[in-house]
Amino acid sequence: MENFDFYSPTFFAFGKDRENEAGALVKRFGGSKVLIHYGGGSVVRSGLLDRVKASLDKEGIPYVELGGVKPNPRSGLVYEGIELCKKENVDFVLAVGGGSVIDSSKAIAAGTVYDGDFWDFYMGKLIEEALPIGTILTIAAAGSEGSPDSVITKEEGMFKRGATGDAIRPKFSILNPALTQTLPAYQTAAGITDIMAHLHERYLTNTKEVEVTDRMIEGLLLTMIHEGPRVIADPNNYEARANIMWAGMMAHNNSCGVGRSQDWNSHDIEHELSALYDCAHGAGLAVTMPAVFKYVYKHDVMRFAKLAVRVWGCQMDFDDPESTALAGIAALENFLKSIGMPISFDELGAKEEDIPKLVETLCRGNGRQGSISGFVTLNEDDCTKIYQMMV
Ligand code: NZQ
Ligand code: ZN
Repeated sequence: MENFDFYSPTFFAFGKDRENEAGALVKRFGGSKVLIHYGGGSVVRSGLLDRVKASLDKEGIPYVELGGVKPNPRSGLVYEGIELCKKENVDFVLAVGGGSVIDSSKAIAAGTVYDGDFWDFYMGKLIEEALPIGTILTIAAAGSEGSPDSVITKEEGMFKRGATGDAIRPKFSILNPALTQTLPAYQTAAGITDIMAHLHERYLTNTKEVEVTDRMIEGLLLTMIHEGPRVIADPNNYEARANIMWAGMMAHNNSCGVGRSQDWNSHDIEHELSALYDCAHGAGLAVTMPAVFKYVYKHDVMRFAKLAVRVWGCQMDFDDPESTALAGIAALENFLKSIGMPISFDELGAKEEDIPKLVETLCRGNGRQGSISGFVTLNEDDCTKIYQMMV
């Protein structure tokens, strides 16, 4: 295991009706003027936004609102939010929605207290200061409610890039699984896929002897395999949604990723798809992960075979461990298909003729030098082949 720091100070309020405590929590964490940031309208239709406002009113906390965050959130609204926060002297950002809303809130929170262009953070500058952030999560997926990360798409060039820093870990996150019951099945499945991807990106490591985090990841993956189909079959299954929601947080606050190198090639390759085609991030990952894994598994056959045996229940073939590794990847692919996720470029709305453009942006865009690195380093030729495997 490698040396590591782990600092995860987010306060979690989990369970039914907890959104009614939003005002008290904002007060507890020092907010006196709030920006309520939300998406395309699901929180208006569900009545959640009204409940959150009532909770702020009850505590006497004034607020301004900015809705309209799109899935795969854009830089334009972030600039608007920064202006609004400066003009209105906002000192707390409250995200009401999914990963896109939370990430946009994080960008606004960092950009408001920064003199330069907020995009500097998405070019690699560490976020060391930000307004405090609270979240009320409505979809189990991105894990942004407990993570120090934010992913934004810059409209000029459509670069989808991440920024990081403990300063943007939420001060509090309210997780009420019942709020996710209104999700369309496709979006629920995309969230399940994203959570499973966050676990795989950490499982694929070059660090030896990391049994505790290996076992945590395997346990969370087994949970997703058990609960995912239950919630697809019955969207109102509160208990299954509760387990998935907490697994989504655990998968990405890095408690199971500490002390080990991580992968993230599947995410980098997928981000180009959701930037160009505006597909759901999780759906893009369903197409990307099996292709990446089939391309790289020979780098460490036994790691893939271990995952196949421990998580997918495959029989270990000691004479031919490659076949065990491949059986595990096939099981993942079948699972994703069974919950309604796409498995090919076509189903995602992606086009083969765009592959050179995807590879160019992936490997050269926004300061990259011709490759991406993770479990293995992938150059332009590798990435071209991986995209072709998805067609
Ligand atoms: O905009 P509204 O109307 O709210 O609708 C949203 C949106 O259309 C809808 N939705 C959310 N909760 C709902 C609901 N509809 C009905 N009932 C509810 N309870 O779902 C759609 C998708 O929402 P979005 O926030 O985009 O989903 P998700 O949480 O999957 O976030 C995806 C974004 O997170 C980034 C992704 O790249 C993508 O941009 N990621 C962020 C990470 C992080 N910050 O740590 C890590 C992830 O790997 C990921 O890259
Ligand atoms: Zn993700």
